[in-house]
Amino acid sequence: MYVCLCNAVSDKTIRNAVHQRHVRSIRELRNFVPVGSDCGKCIRQAREILNEEISLLLSINNVA
Ligand code: FES
Repeated sequence: MYVCLCNAVSDKTIRNAVHQRHVRSIRELRNFVPVGSDCGKCIRQAREILNEEISLLLSINNVA
């Protein structure tokens, strides 16, 4: 699913950034992915996906 229509950034791209680039904030995410750089309407959803993926990662690490 596309999160940022202006820059064609998908939720998968954001999730991959969390895992592969160890992104932990929107600011860090924007170093690798051009999310929110035009109209900015996608920032809220991008933040939700980012936080969801970080929480998932933390819960996996706590189980392991
Ligand atoms: S939808 Fe992301 S900048 Fe416009």
